[in-house]
Amino acid sequence: MKFNESRYSEMIYKRCGKSGISLPIVSLGLWHNFGDVDDFENARKMIFRSFDLGITHFDLANNYGPSPGSAERNFGKILKEDLYSHRDELIISSKAGYLMWDGPYGEWGSRKHLISSLDQSLKRLRLEYVDIFYHHRPDPSTPLEETMITLDHIVRQGKALYVGLSNYDHIQTEKAANILNELGTPMLIHQPKYNMFNRWIEPDLLNLLEDKGIGCISFSPLAQGMLTDKYISGIPANSRAANEHGFLQPDEITENSVDKIKKLNQIALNRNQSLAQLALAWNLRNNAMTSVLIGARSVEQIEENVHCIDNLNLTIEELKMIDEIISED
Ligand SMILES: NC(=O)c1ccc[n+]([C@@H]2O[C@H](COP(=O)([O-])OP(=O)(O)OC[C@H]3O[C@@H](n4cnc5c(N)ncnc54)[C@H](OP(=O)(O)O)[C@@H]3O)[C@@H](O)[C@H]2O)c1
Repeated sequence: MKFNESRYSEMIYKRCGKSGISLPIVSLGLWHNFGDVDDFENARKMIFRSFDLGITHFDLANNYGPSPGSAERNFGKILKEDLYSHRDELIISSKAGYLMWDGPYGEWGSRKHLISSLDQSLKRLRLEYVDIFYHHRPDPSTPLEETMITLDHIVRQGKALYVGLSNYDHIQTEKAANILNELGTPMLIHQPKYNMFNRWIEPDLLNLLEDKGIGCISFSPLAQGMLTDKYISGIPANSRAANEHGFLQPDEITENSVDKIKKLNQIALNRNQSLAQLALAWNLRNNAMTSVLIGARSVEQIEENVHCIDNLNLTIEELKMIDEIISED
């Protein structure tokens, strides 16, 4: 398989916190559209085109599918068949913490769950190690020390190069990052949900990450597709909200949100951008943000989204207009 030789000059790479790693400012997640209910050839094309566009970071989790685990299995197959010679050019992440198998060890943050889950993921991915291993969500019942000691152990075993946390708030993140620092395995990155409709990480978590030199990669930066022009005139058949396996529920597409989407779309058009590109540029405006973690159903969506890099600058007036639109009742 031959890839675009200028791919690294066409993408922007940003240092992940104060680590040695740089990530593409647009990364691809395999939560939807890569499972065994999906078209495998389309999945393969999306991975190839992403890599061709300079996307070096692919994000997975134990449970992505459906069926759970099938996104890792499919990615492992694509990697083995066509991308393995490029393994050292890739940052591949996985996660554990959400429900994956029956019984008391199939989810959350115990040593038992994390180690067993990563072993399963490595088999599905056909890899000896992942580049980043995340604890997917905080566990209110397991001592934080147990979870962090396990992440440190996993790195020392060579099964992950770096560790990250997802969905932890700023207080939990600070405690966890301090424990990891003491153990000698600094936290590389945080993965929170962040988009124009959901700004919960402002300002505390973002400030903490910047202060501590931890990177940040935002998931659902397009609000699962709502921050594109696709829902402006209803719910199209080829959309996540219409898909029986889609996480976005049709009742989330309210009149109020469509009204905001239309106004935001107008700002994007005035900038000669699509709304998806504006939403990604907006997400990346923050210094603490290393990368936006997009999802996609097609090569065309990935191409469009990567072109956000053509215009990342937002004026103070544009930012103000966006804030006003978002805060309208
Ligand atoms: N850590 C966590 O707890 C967590 C949770 C969720 C996700 N994630 C990660 O974040 C990644 C991205 O999440 P997400 O898929 O929700 O991200 P997103 O980028 O907000 O939404 C992606 C969806 O938006 C639509 N879309 C994308 N580009 C478009 C375009 N240019 N025009 C029109 N529609 C477009 C597509 O859906 P349709 O075309 O099907 O409508 C696509 O599947 C996941 O794959 C996963 O890796 C992590």
